Amino acid sequence: GTFVVLASGRGSNFQAIIDRVKEGFIHARCVCLITDNPDAYAITRANKAGIPHEVVSYKSFSDKIRYEEALMEVIARYNPDLIILAGYMRLLGDRIVDTYHGKMINIHPSLLPAFAGLHAQQQALDYGTKVAGCTVHFVTRDMDAGPVIIQRTVLVLDDDDEESLSSRILIEEHQAYPDAVRLFFEHRLRIEGRRVRILP
Ligand code: GRF
Repeated sequence: GTFVVLASGRGSNFQAIIDRVKEGFIHARCVCLITDNPDAYAITRANKAGIPHEVVSYKSFSDKIRYEEALMEVIARYNPDLIILAGYMRLLGDRIVDTYHGKMINIHPSLLPAFAGLHAQQQALDYGTKVAGCTVHFVTRDMDAGPVIIQRTVLVLDDDDEESLSSRILIEEHQAYPDAVRLFFEHRLRIEGRRVRILP
């Protein structure tokens, strides 16, 4: 199988996934990294790994519709089996989401449905929850709301701040995301309504 990764910045989840591919844990190939940001550090990671990259910069289009047309064109050129959103900071429109129904996944640094949207880790601290974590889910039209594939938890410590909590959650993200990608390419994920059944 093949996949493309969409990222906007640091790209540590992208790195975790392509590392697991290299080790033979995931039986699929990353055919392209796509960023909306020409300065994303993820591009450096792609270059080091010999993975092609494309920049579809939001700023160079007159509106969201045109931007997404261009993005869809680039994605279609690579004809991936799976689209992986990894720190991709834009909300995708209905057309692209519908086109790739069941073939697009995202990671979010909270235990959804709690704390969707930005600064999820700080939201957990502000609420005062004692557990936090991350969620890998299929992408649907609503933000951070699709069927859940994997969640991993961390304990919130009394002394945590946004940075310390985020970095412990990130360790779990780097485990959860490759696990989910592997399951996808083993054809072991079946969406049944809101629930994802993981086949043995
Ligand atoms: C991660 O915390 C991810 O859950 C969130 O954005 C961050 C991206 O980190 N959506 P990275 O770019 O993968 O390092």
